[in-house]
Amino acid sequence: MVRLLDLLTHGILASCLNAQEVLEYQNNTFNSSYALSEAQSGAANISDSVAKNLEVALNVERTNWATGSVGDDHFYNPPPVNASTAPGSLLKLQEFTNTSTYTLAPNLALSRILFTSVDFNGSIVPASAYVLWPWQARTFPGSCLNVSGVPAVAWAHGTSGVFGECAPSHIRNLWYQFSAPFTLALQGYAVVAPDYAGLGVNHTAEGDPVVHQYLAHPAAANDMFYAMEAAQKAFPELSKQFVTMGHSQGGGAAWATAHRQSITPVEGHLGTVAGSPDPDNYDNIKATDGVGFAPRIARGIGSIFPSFKYSEWFEPEGVKRLHLLEELSGCNSVNDVLFPQSEGLMRLGFEENWYLRAYSNISDPSRKPISGPMLVIQGTSDPAVPADGVSKAVNETCAMYPKSQIRYASFEGASHVPVLNAAQQIWLQWIEDRFMGKDVDEGCTQEYHRPLRRVASYQKELEYYLQLAVQAYEVA
Ligand SMILES: *[C@@H]1O[C@H](CO)[C@@H](O)[C@H](O)[C@H]1NC(C)=O
Ligand SMILES: *[C@@H]1O[C@H](CO)[C@@H](O)[C@H](O)[C@H]1NC(C)=O
Ligand SMILES: *[C@@H]1O[C@H](CO)[C@@H](O)[C@H](O)[C@H]1NC(C)=O
Ligand SMILES: *[C@@H]1O[C@H](CO)[C@@H](O)[C@H](O)[C@H]1NC(C)=O
Ligand SMILES: *[C@@H]1O[C@H](CO)[C@@H](O)[C@H](O)[C@H]1NC(C)=O
Ligand SMILES: *[C@@H]1O[C@H](CO)[C@@H](O)[C@H](O)[C@H]1NC(C)=O
Ligand SMILES: *[C@@H]1O[C@H](CO)[C@@H](O)[C@H](O)[C@H]1NC(C)=O
Ligand SMILES: *[C@@H]1O[C@H](CO)[C@@H](O)[C@H](O)[C@H]1NC(C)=O
Ligand SMILES: *[C@@H]1O[C@H](CO)[C@@H](O)[C@H](O)[C@H]1NC(C)=O
Ligand SMILES: *[C@@H]1O[C@H](CO)[C@@H](O)[C@H](O)[C@H]1NC(C)=O
Repeated sequence: MVRLLDLLTHGILASCLNAQEVLEYQNNTFNSSYALSEAQSGAANISDSVAKNLEVALNVERTNWATGSVGDDHFYNPPPVNASTAPGSLLKLQEFTNTSTYTLAPNLALSRILFTSVDFNGSIVPASAYVLWPWQARTFPGSCLNVSGVPAVAWAHGTSGVFGECAPSHIRNLWYQFSAPFTLALQGYAVVAPDYAGLGVNHTAEGDPVVHQYLAHPAAANDMFYAMEAAQKAFPELSKQFVTMGHSQGGGAAWATAHRQSITPVEGHLGTVAGSPDPDNYDNIKATDGVGFAPRIARGIGSIFPSFKYSEWFEPEGVKRLHLLEELSGCNSVNDVLFPQSEGLMRLGFEENWYLRAYSNISDPSRKPISGPMLVIQGTSDPAVPADGVSKAVNETCAMYPKSQIRYASFEGASHVPVLNAAQQIWLQWIEDRFMGKDVDEGCTQEYHRPLRRVASYQKELEYYLQLAVQAYEVA
């Protein structure tokens, strides 16, 4: 109380609190207190301790919904679309999104749109995106380009999960928070961020499912271009020029935008930033424990190869857990509770299964031509997307297409998402250079960045989370 009065004396909280108010601890169930039924844990054959962990993880996920379930938020109900609806159409516009339930940095603003994208096999699908607005647009004095309006970056997020509920546009911190979208917006860029088809909007107007095609990079590249096109229709103040940027799952998506540009060029695209990309799913799964990817791919692969059955990859115990994951629309945290390891859940040697090889082959944008400059950033201590695989994909692409304008920058000791912090100066400068119209020479370059101090002396992983302050004293 002394400290509080001290703060009041200094006027810091004077507008929020009065001395008579009784302060309460933040509710530890906050905004969700879902409890599993015995029937649910029985059907999944999970122990009491796994069930308890699952409840904790699920309630954290649900507490972080900014606008409730996507099933209840009417924004995510799309109007009818059909084969003659053009991709990149604006279907719905929420010009002002009330951010009082989001955890945005101050002086950012949010809009949401629905738009049409194209899935892996060419069907038109409704999808959602957010637009995160800077307070003031960045300007580019002396630019060789005629940049007018708010400079735009299409942002492709890393894995959040594969169900409707896993859409960044309804998550309080927009999923990657200060790792990229908040940073971009605070630097004066408008961030146009698709949820990827199947996240957010998970059904058509007729009620047919829209399933997320996890790691089918060409489909996610469609989402990036069409979200940008629809956002530019909704907001003529957005610049015609834009950069595509993504990380992890989104790094693969971003790489696929660079490749797509060599086939279907979109005017205004200035270049691509691919952070910790995983273009080759097969290689990446072999180099890691496939359980991080397989349950998520399994959800969507049937929309590309309809003959796929979960039993191709999963043991019966794994199939039961997948069904529970689906019933709950669990995202990353729940996924990790249900699939902590391959043993007992995945079939031995599933990596060599035909469906995984075929899926990886058709999804991989690497070892193909790209158009426009691409910056690849990669941490050397990345457990999710190991540097070797990314370096190999870059080297092989450069050997096959020596004119590719790829700059590969690796960062010693940096881990997966945290490489975005280590590399922040580099990617921000690189994006600025594109809007300045600076030329990039043909051919690939590689660079290795060492930290100022010993690797071990740096904070390695994200060790904080953003949470909504519901009490006036909860500020730091
Ligand atoms: C705590 O949260 C739960 C779940 O939302 C709610 O039922 C309960 O009323 C809350 N308690 C307080 C004191 O806010
Ligand atoms: C449930 O899992 C245990 C191992 O944890 C196994 O021994 C048992 O056979 C399973 N029960 C059913 C009904 O599959
Ligand atoms: C809590 O959850 C409900 C239902 O999901 C939602 O409508 C409400 O906006 C949420 N409240 C906050 C403060 O997030
Ligand atoms: C397709 O959708 C458009 C716009 O919603 C509508 O005008 C048109 O009649 C539809 N076409 C068919 C064949 O359903
Ligand atoms: C946003 O929503 C909150 C909570 O419902 C409300 O108090 C506030 O007035 C709204 N802000 C605007 C600008 O509409
Ligand atoms: C620059 O762009 C603006 C808006 O797109 C346009 O009105 C103007 O004519 C352009 N100027 C040049 C020199 O291209
Ligand atoms: C879409 O998500 C909602 C909320 O999680 C869920 O209730 C519904 O079953 C999902 N629909 C489809 C078609 O997957
Ligand atoms: C989708 O495209 C892939 C690759 O071309 C093809 O193998 C698959 O059969 C197609 N699936 C559907 C449902 O059309
Ligand atoms: C995938 O590509 C590899 C390398 O090109 C090839 O050896 C393999 O047969 C392909 N597998 C499938 C299932 O498409
Ligand atoms: C890629 O090429 C660079 C530069 O030649 C080399 O240092 C690196 O080891 C290569 N990566 C792999 C995985 O072979």
